Amino acid sequence: MTKAPAPSEIDWQNLGFNYMDLPYRFLAHYKDGQWDDGQLTEDATLHISEGSTALHYGQADFEGLKAYRTKNGDIQLFRPDRNAARMQKSCERLLMPPFPTDKFLAAVKSVVKSNADYVPPYGTGGTLYLRPLMIGVGENIGVHPAPEYLFTIFAMPVGAYYKGGVKPTNFTTSYYDRAAPHGTGQSKVGGNYGGSLLPGSEAHKAGYSDVIYLDPATHTKIEEAGSANFFGVTKNNEFVTPKSNSILPSITKYSLLYLAEHNLGMKAIEGDVFINDLDRFVEAGAMGTAAVIAPIGGIEYQDQLHVFYSETEVGPVTQKLYDTLTGIQFGDVKAPEGWIQKVEV
Ligand SMILES: Cc1ncc(COP(=O)(O)O)c(C=O)c1O
Repeated sequence: MTKAPAPSEIDWQNLGFNYMDLPYRFLAHYKDGQWDDGQLTEDATLHISEGSTALHYGQADFEGLKAYRTKNGDIQLFRPDRNAARMQKSCERLLMPPFPTDKFLAAVKSVVKSNADYVPPYGTGGTLYLRPLMIGVGENIGVHPAPEYLFTIFAMPVGAYYKGGVKPTNFTTSYYDRAAPHGTGQSKVGGNYGGSLLPGSEAHKAGYSDVIYLDPATHTKIEEAGSANFFGVTKNNEFVTPKSNSILPSITKYSLLYLAEHNLGMKAIEGDVFINDLDRFVEAGAMGTAAVIAPIGGIEYQDQLHVFYSETEVGPVTQKLYDTLTGIQFGDVKAPEGWIQKVEV
């Protein structure tokens, strides 16, 4: 395993989104019906049985969140309690033992604190990305829940998603579904992502940044934009995002719904977004932790490219939403109560 370079050797301005073996990660073990206390470890390799359910039957879920360096050098987390809660839901769906919120938050903070020198400096746009992961392990071969589980949180510094300003890209509508109508789409489980690799790769080959997934039952409504939630802005100052039980409840999405209403004075709506009614939108974008907002220039559907605001310029509402949320995450804009948790270093 290649160890991460020393913090002094990292080019913070040009970091991408790549795995790095940092000094510490958290690891807890579930056995005989309970979680142990877990601890920080320097060992980046998991040692598991070949019979582990995660390997055969996809009994695995994960999360993604970031730690941000503020102007005065503090480190803070953005709504980590929401990641803890969503992971518990994913665990319930796969018959895995939920990891309690208080322990989750303590573990996240201990990983950030022990790797604090790897939280990128303020102003570079970089962040410390955290990856909580739970897998079913232990000796097993039947299609049953695992006898044991591992919960780990590891971290790596990642660069600003957009170097040199936010830019729109085009998406294409997918023939594939990422989730079944009553399947696992609302859970952050590994299997959903294995199935998304082929559609994503075909979209890239065709010159698009990713796919728009339609609702699996009728293929008439937008569900997700790659591995992000979709939003559109209407002429009437509405912020609209799809509502469905087969999309992942994005923490960025719920934050933007709130900010659209409370900070931008828009009407925030969760409802149907029909693919043949894109004219109602003057701007559109994809929302998620990685990019915060990836503006959508246009969507290809049935061989027609529907352009929203522009294929090259970011719309004013999208830019304002982006600036407000990133401002909150980096500590420059006042956050709504309870959204920010400081990490004491
Ligand atoms: C399928 C999918 N949708 C949406 C999101 C965005 O969720 P969040 O804003 O919580 O990162 C993600 C990323 O976590 C995702 O994997």
